[in-house]
Amino acid sequence: MAGAILWMLASVHAISMVLAQDGNQFVHYDFRKADLYVDGMASTKDGRLKLTNSSKRATGHAFHKTPIAFVNSSFSFSTEFVFAIVPEERTSYGQGMAFVVFPSIVDLRYGAATSYLGLFNRGNDNKTENHILAVELDTNASSEALEESDNHVGIDVNSIVSVESKDASYFDDTLGMNRSLVLASKQRIRIWIEYDGENRLLNVTLAPLETPKPRLPLLSRSIDLSKIFKEQMFFGFAGSTGTIRSHQYILGWSLAIGGKAQSLDISQVMDLPRPPPDHLPLILAVASVVAFLIIAGGIVYLYQRNRYSEVFEQWELQYSPQRFSFRALYKATRGFKENRVLGAGGFGKVYRGELLDGTRIAVKRVSHGAEQGMQEYVAEIATMGRLAHRNLVQLRGYCRRKGELLLVYEYMVNGSLADRLFDGDNLSWSQRVHIVKGVSSCLHYLHEGWGKVVLHRDIKASNILLDEDLNGKLGDFMIVARLLKPRVL
Ligand SMILES: *[C@@H]1O[C@H](CO)[C@@H](O)[C@H](O)[C@H]1NC(C)=O
Ligand SMILES: *[C@@H]1O[C@H](CO)[C@@H](O)[C@H](O)[C@H]1NC(C)=O
Ligand SMILES: *[C@@H]1O[C@H](CO)[C@@H](O)[C@H](O)[C@H]1NC(C)=O
Ligand SMILES: *[C@@H]1O[C@H](CO)[C@@H](O)[C@H](O)[C@H]1NC(C)=O
Ligand SMILES: *[C@@H]1O[C@H](CO)[C@@H](O)[C@H](O)[C@H]1NC(C)=O
Ligand SMILES: *[C@@H]1O[C@H](CO)[C@@H](O)[C@H](O)[C@H]1NC(C)=O
Repeated sequence: MAGAILWMLASVHAISMVLAQDGNQFVHYDFRKADLYVDGMASTKDGRLKLTNSSKRATGHAFHKTPIAFVNSSFSFSTEFVFAIVPEERTSYGQGMAFVVFPSIVDLRYGAATSYLGLFNRGNDNKTENHILAVELDTNASSEALEESDNHVGIDVNSIVSVESKDASYFDDTLGMNRSLVLASKQRIRIWIEYDGENRLLNVTLAPLETPKPRLPLLSRSIDLSKIFKEQMFFGFAGSTGTIRSHQYILGWSLAIGGKAQSLDISQVMDLPRPPPDHLPLILAVASVVAFLIIAGGIVYLYQRNRYSEVFEQWELQYSPQRFSFRALYKATRGFKENRVLGAGGFGKVYRGELLDGTRIAVKRVSHGAEQGMQEYVAEIATMGRLAHRNLVQLRGYCRRKGELLLVYEYMVNGSLADRLFDGDNLSWSQRVHIVKGVSSCLHYLHEGWGKVVLHRDIKASNILLDEDLNGKLGDFMIVARLLKPRVL
């Protein structure tokens, strides 16, 4: 069974080889096996027939080496081929290409590049001695050829000026209407060129590869080939480039003399070579990620800067040992969390916190309206900071933000005397006496033990704080109160 299939395959293959070798009929899918003459930019090295490459203002030709005899005026031919045009640039299609029937190899070599498509030149254009018939697939409107469309199909007789041409389109049999087609679309397009010698009619029909042959041709032109052809004619292709280039491919070709060309088997038609990887999307993706990161980083930076922004003036330099950064206080109080509030008074809230070195602190946040008098307050804070007595709550420093002053005190584990007295008093009388003695000793220090007389001006149970040994410590001088009211001394 398997043997029989193999034999059948072998014989089918043998038949197509015979057809391919028959001068009056051939089908090519792999042009390396076709008996072609190629010149200029044309090549068949990967099996595709490639007419042009990236060279500027150059031509490429490829045609069957064996000429076909033009017997008499009833001569007919039919051909079908698949082409694809791949422009190098996005903005322009480049030049075009043509299917060509011509009498002598030498003649075509003089074909000029650019708009002459490798078919004619300035000297020989429009001469009856050319004996050239071409069907151009033109992707550049040129003034030499009196063209206005950069996407047209034309029938040329001895001249690059077409005897008839139309914008590329095909008739959609199912919709019953014409649909336009872009020749240089990097898509495989199939074209049928048929000449009926009896009626002297040349038809050109094209359609996307997958579409069956449309019922109506794009061009149908009455032409008498006996007035053009010589006894022997070559069949092939020509293409050219200008300053802008396109890569032109023929991916399958079938031809028959005196009958209908064998229809191409789409599955055997080669694909276009893979385009070189386009790095642009990748570059764009990376660039947008980088841009995003920069912007996000910028936003985070601005947010952080704003979050930790402080007010710092030149005159404060002398107090810098007592200055805390807002960032440090923010971290110490875990962002001034509500569960760290020790108490709230008329001037603001007090928060518990730990500095990086583990020191426990209490931070009083006071909002104020004006910067007026600020310099004096800060000076006073600095002075307070220099007071040192074991019954005085140590003022460790301060920080300034817009409309806000932060005072940093040492932390008192046992809270205020007021809390102890009014919420479940458990102080013994001896402890109370100890506390009173401590506070008195501190007041003595403030009033007489220091260079200047310092008045507390707000001694009350809530301003007396207790450390872990229940020593009474005087805290919260009236400086804060003065900050809010005009200072009167
Ligand atoms: C195009 O093909 C011709 C002929 O093979 C060759 O000389 C030329 O270098 C090629 N140009 C490019 C840009 O590949
Ligand atoms: C043209 O040539 C073909 C093939 O040789 C022949 O069959 C046909 O009769 C000829 N027709 C005319 C009008 O001479
Ligand atoms: C035609 O080709 C010329 C030169 O190669 C180019 O400048 C022009 O843009 C092309 N025109 C079109 C419509 O592609
Ligand atoms: C081509 O030549 C013919 C005469 O041989 C003339 O009538 C025609 O105008 C020419 N066409 C162009 C485009 O020069
Ligand atoms: C060419 O097209 C015309 C018009 O559609 C049609 O009548 C004729 O049969 C076609 N000839 C060939 C050879 O396909
Ligand atoms: C479609 O195009 C052909 C060829 O250009 C033309 O003859 C025909 O009138 C057009 N048909 C429609 C429906 O536009």
